[in-house]
Amino acid sequence: MLEVKSVDLHYGAAIALRGVSLVAKPGEVTCLLGRNGVGKTSLLRAVTGAHPVSGGSIVWEGADITRLPTYERARRGIAWVPQGRDIFPLLTVRENLETGFAVLPRRERRLPDDVFELFPVLKSMLRRRGGDLSGGQQQQLAIARALVMRPRLLVLDEPTEGIQPSIIKDIGRVITLLRERGGMAILLVEQYFDFARQLAQEIAVMDRGSIVLQGRREELDEQDVRRRVSV
Ligand SMILES: Nc1ncnc2c1ncn2[C@@H]1O[C@H](COP(=O)(O)OP(=O)(O)OP(=O)(O)O)[C@@H](O)[C@H]1O
Ligand SMILES: [Mg+2]
Repeated sequence: MLEVKSVDLHYGAAIALRGVSLVAKPGEVTCLLGRNGVGKTSLLRAVTGAHPVSGGSIVWEGADITRLPTYERARRGIAWVPQGRDIFPLLTVRENLETGFAVLPRRERRLPDDVFELFPVLKSMLRRRGGDLSGGQQQQLAIARALVMRPRLLVLDEPTEGIQPSIIKDIGRVITLLRERGGMAILLVEQYFDFARQLAQEIAVMDRGSIVLQGRREELDEQDVRRRVSV
């Protein structure tokens, strides 16, 4: 399980996270909600190691990973689907997927079949350039690329942002399937409560760098959550 303990994060003198604590357990979707600019991506940077924390600690599978570099966290099974997808536009779909091999031992470097069961559209597009895919297809590719690493923690930053409703549904189905298989903790950042509510077991709401509301989905007051996330 992932334990974020009282984490502070700064950009220069500006504080982006203040004493944030959060837990993500295997077999569950933990959703972090919040409006624009409240610090959601910053928390994911702290978890993945993309930005150093200035206080607190991050524990993964019982080990303190607070000071480990990004690649070492990736090797330990933490995969990140970044906001805006960050597909390599000039690489083919296959090559984009194969970038996930970097953290795997050589004998495990093959594309798992289930990636194409989860995202059938990618199978017919293996030779296309990433940049030629639609936004929704790129999002699916970004998730598939993360799954190639066979992660035990999957971190997704606003996977529904700018995506058409039919593909949002597909992505929701995939997230639920991955959760039901067990063994994987999923940390999902969202701005849309309706998407989060369908998928999450645990919900945390962030405002100006702090968690302001947290609990099991069925225990949270829906109106209260909506008031804090709606724009
Ligand atoms: N690299 C950076 N340098 C300086 N300030 C930053 C940097 N990245 C983010 N910030 C600031 O930190 C705060 C939190 O940003 P963050 O990207 O974590 O928010 P967010 O909740 O992910 O927003 P969004 O919903 O728009 O993605 C914002 O005020 C933002 O302007
Ligand atoms: Mg963000």
